Amino acid sequence: MNKFLILSVFLSVISCTQQSTTNQESNVMLPEPVANAGNAASGKNEGLALIEGADCLTCHKMDTKLVGPSYQEVADKYTNADVDKLAAKIIEGGKGNWGEVPMTPHAGMSKETAKKMVEYILTLKK
Ligand code: HEC
Repeated sequence: MNKFLILSVFLSVISCTQQSTTNQESNVMLPEPVANAGNAASGKNEGLALIEGADCLTCHKMDTKLVGPSYQEVADKYTNADVDKLAAKIIEGGKGNWGEVPMTPHAGMSKETAKKMVEYILTLKK
């Protein structure tokens, strides 16, 4: 009986410790999308891998309009001079260039990541 008590006290101490560690490590920021190493190794475009790792494809398709314009349409409309502007738009979100439906902001994303995505999109120019 005594042994059992000691054991259960010991176990509850362990589980408390584990829980508080998990809480400390939890992070409220959305994780930055990362290009999958396997994809990079197979020579897949890093910008495309980043797009696939984020939420972009729920609203964008490569060749047909969905909630947002197709990436081909975006590529046809802009040039490499617009990379900064488009990267800022992905981070800040907004509407007006394609209609009244806004793009959601991606506030946790770095400018560098957003630029890689835009650079990939612009390669789809026909
Ligand atoms: C909730 C839906 C949604 C998501 C998610 C989304 N977009 Fe958009 N996106 C839109 C809409 C709607 C527009 C058109 C905005 C406008 O009219 O100016 C747009 C426009 C764009 C444009 C063109 C901007 C311009 O000013 O012409 C780019 C580039 C773009 N999105 C890239 C991305 C990337 C990369 C991601 C993922 C990180 C993403 N989008 C995620 C809806 C979305």
